[in-house]
Amino acid sequence: MVLSNKAQGLKLSGIREINELLQKIPDVIRLEFGEPDFDPPEHVKKAAIDAILQGKGKYVSSAGIPELRRAIVDKLKSENNINYDISEVVVTNGANGAIHYSLEAIVNEGEEVLIPDPGWANYEQAVKAIGAKPVFYPLYEEDNFEPRVDEIEKLITNKTKAIMINSPNNPTGAVYSRKTIEDIANLALQHNLFVLTDEVYEKFIYEEVSSENKHVSIASLNDEIKQKTLTINSLSKTYAMTGWRIGYVAGPQEIMSAIMKLISAEESCVNTISQYAAIAALRGPQDFTNRMIHAFSERRKFLIKGLSEVRGFKSFIPKGAFYLFVNVKELGMDSYSLAIKILKEAHVALVHGSAFGKNGEGYLRLSYAASIKDLEEAIKRLTNLFNR
Ligand SMILES: Cc1ncc(COP(=O)(O)O)c(C=O)c1O
Repeated sequence: MVLSNKAQGLKLSGIREINELLQKIPDVIRLEFGEPDFDPPEHVKKAAIDAILQGKGKYVSSAGIPELRRAIVDKLKSENNINYDISEVVVTNGANGAIHYSLEAIVNEGEEVLIPDPGWANYEQAVKAIGAKPVFYPLYEEDNFEPRVDEIEKLITNKTKAIMINSPNNPTGAVYSRKTIEDIANLALQHNLFVLTDEVYEKFIYEEVSSENKHVSIASLNDEIKQKTLTINSLSKTYAMTGWRIGYVAGPQEIMSAIMKLISAEESCVNTISQYAAIAALRGPQDFTNRMIHAFSERRKFLIKGLSEVRGFKSFIPKGAFYLFVNVKELGMDSYSLAIKILKEAHVALVHGSAFGKNGEGYLRLSYAASIKDLEEAIKRLTNLFNR
């Protein structure tokens, strides 16, 4: 056997699968990817160019450039109300890198990690990639896709090491209430679990959301839970820097120091040029992000209204992120076949809900990080396909 047992157990995400298929189809409207269609702010691009011209592209600390780590510490203090020391922050290759290293630092082979279903497909692969076991906790539309803490508790065994949470959520767009976050914190403390909180969509919350539903970072609740939490975030979505690969993780110093050693062993350090650009993004004016979120808010309304006219499409009204998770159970087809039919017959690329877990069956995910013109065309094509 050429491949290791671990490598044999991995699979490409359903999103990538749709992406491969659409290459063969002409004139596709692409609503499958979770990527802002904006370009990063000019001052961020300039900072990267300056770093290149000034010869700053050398190896740096495996924990990240101190100046960037300080900018992250300040951001977490002012925006998330969490006090971290610079020794409690490590820069990673996107949030994806932060998730991988966090798991690798605290979870042993054979131990269990609780992950959401539906949830971002990479969580399952990331847990499997370190030889641990993903255990799925279900999310239901009737609860607005907020976790049921009592159901999570039933899944805890003596092998459970951590729970992953993601709010605002991909794929559902749900934003967890303060009460849910508090209940998860209590559960984690009671069972001595670590919490990995993926907050990459924290800024993508739309206007009509009440103060009750504002983004709450679990580590901000109290010091006890902060000691059990790894706060994960990145610049990918907030500054439209997906390919620049800058993320970070913040948590107890002992774990950060282990993550630094793992990065040193596995990839030396994160791209230095991008790190200089990230300092400019975090320290510079924030109007870019506000403008982008305003545009997404308009697109969200446009897509919700347009899809309400498509027969068999019932959108869950999301409070955050930039996805619509649409209930298509009425159409009586499995979500994969439906996504393929839509791709082949309407030339619209979207993702089958089952790509996000068993409980995603019966749904389709559409990203509205696309122009109004594309959304309009997608709605027209879907209406033609389903209303005729
Ligand atoms: C929930 C979630 N977490 C993390 C990521 C990855 O972010 P990054 O580009 O920072 O690795 C994504 C990307 O789609 C995501 O949806």
